[in-house]
Parts: sequence; structure tokens; C-alpha cells
Amino acid sequence: MAYNLLKGKKGIIFGALDEKSIAWRTALRCHEESAQLVLTNAPVALRMGEINKLAEEVKAPVIGADVTSMEDLKKLFEESMKHFGGGIDFVLHSIGMSLNVRKGKSYTEIDYEWNKKTLDISAMSLHRVLRTAWDMDALNEGASVVALTYIAAQRVFPDYNEMADAKALLESVARSFGYNYGMKKKVRVNTVSQSPTRTTAGSGVKGFDGFITYAEKMSPLGNASADECADYCVTLFSDLTKMVTMQNLFHDGGFSSIGVTEAVINQMEK
Ligand SMILES: NC(=O)c1ccc[n+]([C@@H]2O[C@H](COP(=O)([O-])OP(=O)(O)OC[C@H]3O[C@@H](n4cnc5c(N)ncnc54)[C@H](O)[C@@H]3O)[C@@H](O)[C@H]2O)c1
Repeated sequence: MAYNLLKGKKGIIFGALDEKSIAWRTALRCHEESAQLVLTNAPVALRMGEINKLAEEVKAPVIGADVTSMEDLKKLFEESMKHFGGGIDFVLHSIGMSLNVRKGKSYTEIDYEWNKKTLDISAMSLHRVLRTAWDMDALNEGASVVALTYIAAQRVFPDYNEMADAKALLESVARSFGYNYGMKKKVRVNTVSQSPTRTTAGSGVKGFDGFITYAEKMSPLGNASADECADYCVTLFSDLTKMVTMQNLFHDGGFSSIGVTEAVINQMEK
């Protein structure tokens, strides 16, 4: 069901790799709610070509940008503003990458050069995106920026590895830039802490199957899907949440407030 919640709004969606991506699902929902979109991803991801299917469906141009390049980001915002004929109302940051996780290094033996890349791509990129928009005055008054995160920023999930540190930094950048951009232009910046979800990035975490089943059993509502995350992001981009900023918002079926559930106790007693 669509409610026209984003009618007249213009947004940039980072991170749609394939149809499982949270960014992909969110782009579809934003389009259903009448938003105009620009899609972006790293040049290497664009070479896969999948994103063109989404672009056709949501009638959006695709503009390549590596989030670690200020030059790419400047070009992305310039071209997006040209396409929209004005400023931007919302941004989805749905980006994560860890070479240490990908190459199977444990937390106690991480490679520091790879770690720098992880923090740059997965966390400081939010600062880079906001800084680019700030310098160009690209965001409209009351615009909404959402970045995706995971509860490993607050609690230990051993196989999440250095991404836990990246998410903690990401959430801090959201708060700090949220303060500055709120004061300057009432721009909102929030993070959505999503349940484990079967996507390319998600499934890259060691032991993901056990992880996702455990979270399901530990959540009274069960795990939140990518489509449900997309619904939540739409509300945050809409005018219905104008006073929500600098928050880390759990979208996890209740997982973050649980000590233990009957389902898990029963499992332990077996
Ligand atoms: N899947 C989960 O279980 C889960 C849970 C909580 C939070 N998240 C977060 O959701 C976000 C989206 O991940 P997803 O699960 O949809 O997986 P995904 O693999 O579909 O998306 C990750 C995206 O990051 C992009 N990316 C990587 N390096 C980049 C760079 N240098 N420049 C620009 N883009 C780059 C990839 O191309 C890809 O599109 C991530 O921040 C992830 O950490 C995922």
C-alpha cells in the first residue's frame, strides 16, 4: 500500500547492489511513495550491471561514486542537483565493506591497512557525504539522512569483527554531524540498526546462518526483513518524523531489548 508520503521529494540512494540489497528494497518503496531518485554505487559495483534493472523500474539515473573519493562525491551531488533542478530532500547511506572480514582475519589479527579502508568506506564515508552536501549547500531545509548500522556497535558479536568498530564510528558521525546540520538547516541525521538480513554484505559474516536464526529466536516479532527496513526508512524520509534526529533507531523486532526468550531457554534445555 502506498500513501504518497514522499511526493515532491528528491533523494539519493547509495548501495543498491542486487535485488536483496536493503538500498534496492528502499529505492523501490521510495518510488512507490512518489519520490524522485538518483541511484549511486561504487564503479566496480556498477560494472555488475544489475543496478540498471532497478534504475529502469524506479526511473532514476545511475551516477557512479566511490564513497572514499571527495571528487566522485562532488560530481555525484552536482549531477544530482542538475537532474532534480534543485536541492536534495533525503539520502540513504547503505554501505559496508570489510577486507578483514572478507579475507577471514580474526579481530585479534586484523591487517591495519585493510582496517583503514573498512573505517573509511563503512563509517567516515557518512562524514564525507555530509561534508560534500554541507560545502555545496546541497540539502534542503529539513532534509533527512539515514545510514544503516548493526547492534554490534553496542554489544559483542565476535564474527562481526572490525565492522563493530566501524558501526560505532558511523553512529557517532551521525550524532556529531546531526548536531551541526540540525543547527544549520534543520537537517536530520539518524542511523537505523537493522536485524541480520540475507544480503551480499550480511552473508559475508562468518556463521551468518546461526546468527540470523539466533536473532529470530531472540526477537518477539522475529527478524525485520529488508522490505520492512525500507518501510521504516520511508517514514524517516517523510515529514512525519521531522523532529527525529541524532538517534540510533533499532529496527529489529525487539531484539535489542531482550535478555532471553522462551524459545532460547527451550533450546538450551534440550
Ligand atoms: N545485511 C545485514 O545483515 C545488515 C544488518 C544491519 C545493517 N546492515 C547494513 O546495511 C547496509 C547495506 O548492506 P546490505 O546488507 O544491503 O548489503 P549489500 O552488499 O547489498 O550492500 C552494501 C553496499 O555497499 C557498497 N559499497 C561497498 N564499497 C563501496 C564504496 N567504496 N563506494 C560506494 N559503495 C560501496 C556495495 O557496492 C553495496 O552496494 C550496510 O551498511 C550494512 O552494514 C546490514
